[in-house]
Amino acid sequence: MAELFNYACVDGVGIVTIDAPPVNTLGAATRAAVMQAMQLAWADDAAQAIIIACAGRTFFAGADIAEFATGHFADPDFITLFDAIENGPKPVIAAIHGTALGGGLELALHCHYRLAVPSAKLGLPEVNLGILPGAGGTQRLPRLVGVPVALDLITSGKPIKAAQALELGILDRLATEGQLQADALAFAKELIASGATAPRVRDRDDKIAPYRGKPEVFDAFRAQNARAFKGFKAPEAIIKAVQAAVESPNFDEGSKREQALFLELMNSPESKAQRHVFFAQRMTAKVPDVPADTPTRDLKRIGVIGAGTMGGGIAMNFLNIGLPVTLVELKQDALDRGVGVIRKNYENSAAKGRMTEAQVEQRMGLITPAIGLEALADVDLVIEAVFESMAVKQDVFTKLDAICKPGAILASNTSFLDLNEIAAVTKRPQDVIGLHFFSPANVMPLLEIVRGAKTDKSVLASALNIAKAIGKTPVVAGVCHGFIANRAMEPYMAEAEALVLEGASVLDIDRVIRDYGFAMGPFQMLDLIGLDVIGRDSTRKTVMSELVKRDRLGQKKNGGYYDYDAERKATLSPVALEVIAELAAEKGVAQRSFSDEELLGRLLYPVVNEGAKILEEKIASRPSDIDVALIMGYNWPVYRGGPMFWADLTGLPKIVAALRGFEATYGARYAPAALLVQLADAGKGFGSL
Ligand code: CAA
Repeated sequence: MAELFNYACVDGVGIVTIDAPPVNTLGAATRAAVMQAMQLAWADDAAQAIIIACAGRTFFAGADIAEFATGHFADPDFITLFDAIENGPKPVIAAIHGTALGGGLELALHCHYRLAVPSAKLGLPEVNLGILPGAGGTQRLPRLVGVPVALDLITSGKPIKAAQALELGILDRLATEGQLQADALAFAKELIASGATAPRVRDRDDKIAPYRGKPEVFDAFRAQNARAFKGFKAPEAIIKAVQAAVESPNFDEGSKREQALFLELMNSPESKAQRHVFFAQRMTAKVPDVPADTPTRDLKRIGVIGAGTMGGGIAMNFLNIGLPVTLVELKQDALDRGVGVIRKNYENSAAKGRMTEAQVEQRMGLITPAIGLEALADVDLVIEAVFESMAVKQDVFTKLDAICKPGAILASNTSFLDLNEIAAVTKRPQDVIGLHFFSPANVMPLLEIVRGAKTDKSVLASALNIAKAIGKTPVVAGVCHGFIANRAMEPYMAEAEALVLEGASVLDIDRVIRDYGFAMGPFQMLDLIGLDVIGRDSTRKTVMSELVKRDRLGQKKNGGYYDYDAERKATLSPVALEVIAELAAEKGVAQRSFSDEELLGRLLYPVVNEGAKILEEKIASRPSDIDVALIMGYNWPVYRGGPMFWADLTGLPKIVAALRGFEATYGARYAPAALLVQLADAGKGFGSL
């Protein structure tokens, strides 16, 4: 344990430094180290005040999230440790750098004074894990910042910068960047000299008193955020805990309420799912046969082919991090339009105060618009976002092979095509990779990295690096039709179409999917993205292709499955109902009604089944990669943990039995994957892989 902390007394100040890499999480060993170091400081007669600081890249990053799965906290638990600090005999100063998050900030709130360097960030991100700050955060933060700000900070989970924390009263002062230790020491000496006491946040009442007996403040907050909070358990529990801070007859009663609400959340499926996602997101960049020390290529100049919606969005990712982009089109008017759209996007951001005019100009200045692929001779990475056709892509890659410098990475943004066939037209298939962005490419957080049969490991490692640099979560996929996210969701869209022909209502399907937690159902989504995007090229006669034939393209033109009024309010379209009835009659599909449970199983179990096939074929390295791909690429509700995690919670035998039932009624396409059956028979889940 000794190496986890250091204690020294300097000029009458006891300095406790915790060193638990990588991010000083407050796991059991770290808590014990803090306790031990504090006991030394309390016992040290020379120390009249105490500083708690951390070594390494950050102040405490909070509880060790893995410890939640054990269901309890080993001694010393958070409350025991933090209460000891707060009630200790000497004033304690938290000296913060990096990020003080969750339990880390709560520890600081139990200290008597807080200072931080300007680059530090402070926050209570527990809501993102489906829990609440259960170590006193919901009781103490409102006492420093008042109810509205506390509700906002805790339910959003967003960290704030040190300057704002100072303004809000969370910090007592800012230290000079790079001089935290010296400034903390000077602060401590000042406190000692002035005979300062050890004020406890828990004793403050001034900021919460105005909200006592005002339940309407909490109700209004609930109502304002109803949409964002829908389906999540934690935000409501947070509101209740903060209300308890205000309304309880004394501090300890409020704390008890916080504890009870915390325990309820910790054991909820929603929190288990969100904790799974936390670790899953950090796993995706780890590719089993590509070690962290794999050499990478320097990507300083980027080329993007195609200035349409996709190409423009892709380009913005690189402009945002200061990399110059050569943007290529075939014709001047398309190029001008594309550059114009990028400018408009940035100007919209500037109008909303998210960037300055100077930043808009700086980003626009990084674009080199060009006609013709020859302009890409000296880029380090080129990404094509041209028409989704093998012939067109192969033509582009043949030309790139002749034009681009040796060592350049040649990437395709294809969403379905065989990357190996694209790579095969070049003499450098090792340099070819798929970088599949999701639309809108400047917003969606997922980047599917498609690894061809011959893709070099250094190319893959470089792609993982650039994903991180542009703030995307990478998921690595092997080559197959649709890769991970699109492939796994294909059965879902197919089921929605099949179900309406069998008599299920469009309204019920969309509602069941919304109740599950998606922002919208499949038909609402199709109407939003435009039916022509998929339906125009459909080789089969489907409800969608028939609607497109009638020039119903969704929200953008004439409505689709729904009709839209001037306020975009949707009502089920009689035309769509007619098309469905005609097609069902033509295909001779028997009509019946469906329970909600049956609808959900028909829509989502095939996704789980496809996920199992994706694993069998080693297209994804691990089940959690599929979860991340669907959460970040298709907005699968995060509190369900993604399809594979949800399948484990549902029980694989139940899913296998349902799929077998569908298979008996509707045919072989529902046959459960061998891996799914094998796991179910063994009483295991995808998590065991
Ligand atoms: N528990 C367990 N492991 C954690 C962790 C935590 N709280 N925070 C980070 N880690 C692990 C990561 O999984 C990662 O592990 P690997 O290297 O094995 O993948 C490693 O630490 C480094 O993390 P990042 O890759 O995320 O590093 P970063 O520099 O990009 O970000 C960070 C650092 C901002 C601190 C980020 O890790 C983070 O946001 N961590 C979570 C913070 C959080 O949610 N804290 C609240 C915890 S709940 C709580 O505290 C409850 C309470 O009320 C007591």
